[in-house]
Amino acid sequence: MSHLPLQLAAAIMALAAAATACRAFQIEEATFDAIQLGFSNGSLTSTALVRFYLDRVARLNPLLHAVIEVNPDALAQAARADAERASGRRGFGPQHGVPVLLKDNIATRDRLNTTAGSLALLGSVVRCDAGVAARLRAAGAVILGKSNPAEWSSFRPLTNGWSARGGETLVSGGSGNPKTLCMSSPQHFIA
Ligand SMILES: *[C@@H]1O[C@H](CO)[C@@H](O)[C@H](O)[C@H]1NC(C)=O
Ligand SMILES: *[C@@H]1O[C@H](CO)[C@@H](O)[C@H](O)[C@H]1NC(C)=O
Repeated sequence: MSHLPLQLAAAIMALAAAATACRAFQIEEATFDAIQLGFSNGSLTSTALVRFYLDRVARLNPLLHAVIEVNPDALAQAARADAERASGRRGFGPQHGVPVLLKDNIATRDRLNTTAGSLALLGSVVRCDAGVAARLRAAGAVILGKSNPAEWSSFRPLTNGWSARGGETLVSGGSGNPKTLCMSSPQHFIA
């Protein structure tokens, strides 16, 4: 009988340890709050974060096909966010300096293509940023790149999560959106 409280205590301690481990900063799973804390306490910069994710994309995307293209201006945007923070300005929102991937059917008027995964739209130029892209930019988010969608939002009757440009996404949650992707923080996907 005397073993029971001991076992219970051990179980509680194991649970508590697991919870602490979950709360610890983990760059792959970092929340907006944890990232902003890192920015403000000086342990993290937007440039370091963007470099980390670009490296993950370069290493894992040949297997996962989750990202259709990376933004050649991502590091410049990160540097700008770092400079804004260093200038002492305050009042930034939670997205400031945080890299996000936009689904490839969200229009961006920049060097990224917007193609809904289709070769037919490659090289086309959109008239302006989509509302969500414009708001993210205004909030200082770094547009890291475009994620690989189900082409034409699954209009082409091929396997889910497939596009002609990006191939088969191995991290699809069933809807064709690479939301469950572990190579980049799942919170940073805008689908
Ligand atoms: C600084 O921020 C990082 C990232 O969120 C966090 O892990 C760390 O505990 C913070 N350090 C302090 C002293 O607040
Ligand atoms: C956009 O598509 C063109 C091909 O039309 C390609 O050369 C270019 O590298 C693409 N942009 C990016 C950022 O990958």
